[in-house]
Amino acid sequence: MKLKLSGSLKIDAFSMRIADIEGVELDRLHALSLSVGWPHRAEDWQFLRETGQGFVALDEIGRVLGSAMWFGHGAGFATVGMVITSPRLQTQGAAQWLMKRVFDRIPGRDLRLNATRAARRLYLSLDFQPEKTVYQCQGVARVPATGRPAEPRGDIRTLDTSDIPSAIALDAAGFGVRRTALIEKLFAHSVGYGLFKGNQLSAFALCRPFGRGHVVGPVVAENDADAVAIVRPHVADHSGSFLRVDTHMANGEFAAFLSHAAMPVFDTVLTMSLGKRLADFVAGGGAVPKAYALASQTLG
Ligand SMILES: CC(C)(COP(=O)(O)OP(=O)(O)OC[C@H]1O[C@@H](n2cnc3c(N)ncnc32)[C@H](O)[C@@H]1OP(=O)(O)O)[C@@H](O)C(=O)NCCC(=O)NCCS
Repeated sequence: MKLKLSGSLKIDAFSMRIADIEGVELDRLHALSLSVGWPHRAEDWQFLRETGQGFVALDEIGRVLGSAMWFGHGAGFATVGMVITSPRLQTQGAAQWLMKRVFDRIPGRDLRLNATRAARRLYLSLDFQPEKTVYQCQGVARVPATGRPAEPRGDIRTLDTSDIPSAIALDAAGFGVRRTALIEKLFAHSVGYGLFKGNQLSAFALCRPFGRGHVVGPVVAENDADAVAIVRPHVADHSGSFLRVDTHMANGEFAAFLSHAAMPVFDTVLTMSLGKRLADFVAGGGAVPKAYALASQTLG
């Protein structure tokens, strides 16, 4: 007798358990981000895991089907990132479940994140408020051929560890929260250029390996011209290779420079906040340093 093969197969529902991201093999985390088309390398996951904390969702045989991380700065603030659920599992409440575990772990903190289009509804339903668009600018970089660079009002030089305290202070003014441990860690992985007025650091830009090439960020400066002046040497260093900058700047000299440097807008995400709004973090006064580029979408 011949067995008739069915054209469909019913797969049972299965349950997931939550675990700390710490003990998970990097390759498994890497496979998860690849499954949603993200450019992170295993080394990028490693960096994030050393910088923050997180959860994973595992199936019965230990496959990683979801993740969510947070990066605390002080006792009252954190950024949230690497929120991923495996495509097979999406729209069934898994990301919601992971986010609620994060809320449980860090109750009452002001939170900030950069939401992809796919994630906006999820975060709105969790009461996050839309803030600003992030322009993900990237491409095979080249120093713009046209337009003579304006004379920077100061000296540009590479940064070393003695510049870390000034960079932390500038970053805090631009980002709104002091990120001491993160900036120290970024320095260890980055090349940095700073603009000095007298002996005072007034703008800086870090650049490190990430994803398909390098990412420039954070960039903190008082104005567009200074921001361009400290990003330009990174573009020269990486001319002919893949470079990325995530910025809130929609227009102006800095945005134009990125486009002339062959890094057009590739995609956008949306900065969202829970608790204190972005404007609540901005210091008043005259020449306030501004964040011209994020450290990354995950880190803010
Ligand atoms: C964004 C992402 C994490 C959402 O994960 P998920 O497991 O599908 O989310 P959930 O099932 O918990 O859904 C949460 C909410 O979003 C809604 N939702 C999820 N996917 C949706 C879709 N495709 N269309 C409409 N609504 C959707 C759900 O209905 C739910 O809303 P509700 O609370 O109002 O009912 C997942 O799609 C993903 O990993 N995408 C790729 C990576 C990414 O963009 N991550 C976000 C980084 S910020």
